[in-house]
Amino acid sequence: MKQAIITGASKGLGKALAHQLAAKGYELLLVARSEKMLTALAEEITATNQVKAVSLALDLSDAQSSRTIFEWCQKNQFAASVLINNAGYACWGFFESMPIDQQEKMLQVNTGSLVNLTHAMLPVLKKHPAAYIMNIASTAAYQAVPTMALYAASKAFVKSFSRGLRYELRNTNVSVTCLSPGPMATNFIQQAGMEAMQETAKKFEMPAEVVAKKGLQAMFNKKSESIPGVVNYLTVKFSNILPDALLEKIAANLYLTKLK
Ligand SMILES: NC(=O)c1ccc[n+]([C@@H]2O[C@H](COP(=O)([O-])OP(=O)(O)OC[C@H]3O[C@@H](n4cnc5c(N)ncnc54)[C@H](OP(=O)(O)O)[C@@H]3O)[C@@H](O)[C@H]2O)c1
Repeated sequence: MKQAIITGASKGLGKALAHQLAAKGYELLLVARSEKMLTALAEEITATNQVKAVSLALDLSDAQSSRTIFEWCQKNQFAASVLINNAGYACWGFFESMPIDQQEKMLQVNTGSLVNLTHAMLPVLKKHPAAYIMNIASTAAYQAVPTMALYAASKAFVKSFSRGLRYELRNTNVSVTCLSPGPMATNFIQQAGMEAMQETAKKFEMPAEVVAKKGLQAMFNKKSESIPGVVNYLTVKFSNILPDALLEKIAANLYLTKLK
């Protein structure tokens, strides 16, 4: 039986990934905080596919949470060959003005728990003939973003970690892919309190289902990185050639002017 773990599966991109992996015949372990949403999704997936989906409600800002996921897998003989580290969110504002404990929690979700869960699950992944890790970064991984300084830095971490780990595992059965979406029509903007950016984001938004499909294609084709959407892809490629100071000014014009 093919089995997969998806973090941040209760809504948005994670939910889309869950539906699409279930359709490919994967049993799923769905992880996030919203217990009711997760349970409903697990029931819906189990009812509409020939696979079982189970939910594990926990807070990934808790440093022990990845251990809990690993132990759940051991206890329930859930031998995942796919690990998707999707859970993540942004804190929007000036670094100096936002409480540091809130920002530390974001870092733990976006990076710390991703790293810990990957480390815990690698021995399990290595037992399969072919196994896949997909880490969700962002187009913000490719440049600094004033007013989202720590979020962008956390996603740059995810991209760099994914590439380094991929190389280390190049002669093994485990492939690592980093998926970097641009704006998506999810709960992300509301969660970050970025409603003032909604109008701008709408112009570039991609449906989570399309991003999920592109991501899974890249993952199963063992690609190192995926940046879905032509505009997103070109923006990232331009960011490689434009001076950092100019990119930061452009980002500041976009985000800082909307920050109250
Ligand atoms: N939407 C965008 O514009 C965009 C762009 C680039 C990258 N991304 C990245 O894409 C990924 C998915 O985001 P999304 O757009 O689908 O946003 P979303 O709809 O807000 O979903 C975020 C997911 O992460 C989970 N999560 C958040 N905090 C958590 C915590 N402390 N513990 C456990 N789970 C937690 C949420 O579940 P609970 O709330 O139930 O815990 C939810 O399932 C994130 O890594 C995000 O950074 C998003």
